[in-house]
Amino acid sequence: MLIDFKQNMGGNILEKLVITGKTPLKGEVVISGAKNAAVAIIPATLLINGICTIDNLPNISDVKLYCDILTELGAKITWNTEHEITVDTRNINSNNIPLETTRKFRASYYLLGALLGRCHSAKVGIPGGCNLGARPIDQHIKTFEALGANVEVSNGNIIAKAKKLKGTSIYMDLVSVGATINAMLAAVLAEGTTIIDNPAKEPHIVDVANFLNTMGADIRGAGTDIIKINGVKELKGNATYSVVPDQIEAGTFMLAAIASKGDITVKNCITKHLESIIAKIVEIGGNVDANGDHLRVWYTKKTHKATIKTLPYPGFPTDLQPQMGVVLSISEGTSIINESIWESRFQYTNELNKMGAKITAQGKTAFFEGVNELTAAPVYATDLRAGAALIIAGIAAKGKTEIYNLNHIDRGYENIEQKFRKLGAKIERVNEE
Ligand code: UD1
Repeated sequence: MLIDFKQNMGGNILEKLVITGKTPLKGEVVISGAKNAAVAIIPATLLINGICTIDNLPNISDVKLYCDILTELGAKITWNTEHEITVDTRNINSNNIPLETTRKFRASYYLLGALLGRCHSAKVGIPGGCNLGARPIDQHIKTFEALGANVEVSNGNIIAKAKKLKGTSIYMDLVSVGATINAMLAAVLAEGTTIIDNPAKEPHIVDVANFLNTMGADIRGAGTDIIKINGVKELKGNATYSVVPDQIEAGTFMLAAIASKGDITVKNCITKHLESIIAKIVEIGGNVDANGDHLRVWYTKKTHKATIKTLPYPGFPTDLQPQMGVVLSISEGTSIINESIWESRFQYTNELNKMGAKITAQGKTAFFEGVNELTAAPVYATDLRAGAALIIAGIAAKGKTEIYNLNHIDRGYENIEQKFRKLGAKIERVNEE
């Protein structure tokens, strides 16, 4: 039964993390570049007819996968260091990415906007990614059509074609990170001005706009309620861009500090991006001292219940909801989390309940009846952030926790066990016979 389940989850069935818990985390952790910015900026290089360098890339499997895809399309990618690449996009010779490739991760949808912008046509397999429930792309398609493309979905592919792309006004019916970035990618080289109304405002939206502007685009207002893109004839490149620090990785370590009753300093982060998480940690009784590009997070007394609703930025991020769920599962009283972005983001609660948590999830709401402590169990990372949450749970729990399905975690966290080990966690990656 155990083997069947692991095989069904599609992970590497031999690898697991083994964590001996009850270690308060202490020391410093340095945050890597943001995954969600990196996986948008790498395809955005397709809009450049030249050479550019991207620095502060996280060393994660999603980034490597994206670099392989660009190489297949004809780009020349040189790894200068493990965090820096130089991309030469002068010889792109394909605009077709098969379903076998795109189903591996959600961010493959950016190939549509980037290739449409560059080649005026793209054939891209329907994107895959973490199973968080339905993940429609109607707003992406609506945007491409508004810019003048004809979009068809057939045989598992999205095929977009345009004689020319023309700037227009686009009102997003809902706040979508992916659709906002795809709108920017498709509009940068379009003729005339594009206005995106009701865009997402996440830090990686601003980062992608900054990257494109560094390469010669004219995008204004990213991070506000209206984005205005004045189309330019070409993006020349010839510049180096450094990816923004990962707000979600920073939040993950902050919550791990509280769950483990620790005291850590999170370095290389933009504290402004962490306001909603800082506010919640302080509200439940944790301590945070933000100072320039680093912050100290520490535990002094038992944390207590909270009510949380996940929202687009600057609200509480859905990508930190599972990690926060671990903290609330061992906080005094009954907490409530309302997940407003994804319909199936409480799968991790079944795993936490195996560790002694008392969580009842009903649709988009979960109730966390705080317990005194978690206890070790074999558990399965059901998605990327669920995996991070289980690591935090393992560090806080009594006994030896085993976590399977590490491929989810490796997609988005650089050297996660090394970083936790440096903070004193007893965590090893081992191969199971
Ligand atoms: C991105 C992040 C993901 C994060 C999410 C929300 C990347 C690579 N991934 O995902 O980690 O959890 O933002 O912060 O950056 N929707 C539609 N139609 C669309 C597009 C979206 O209905 O065309 C809905 C989705 O089902 C979801 C909500 O809008 O309910 C937000 O989705 P979106 O912001 O687009 O998420 P992603 O870009 O996929």
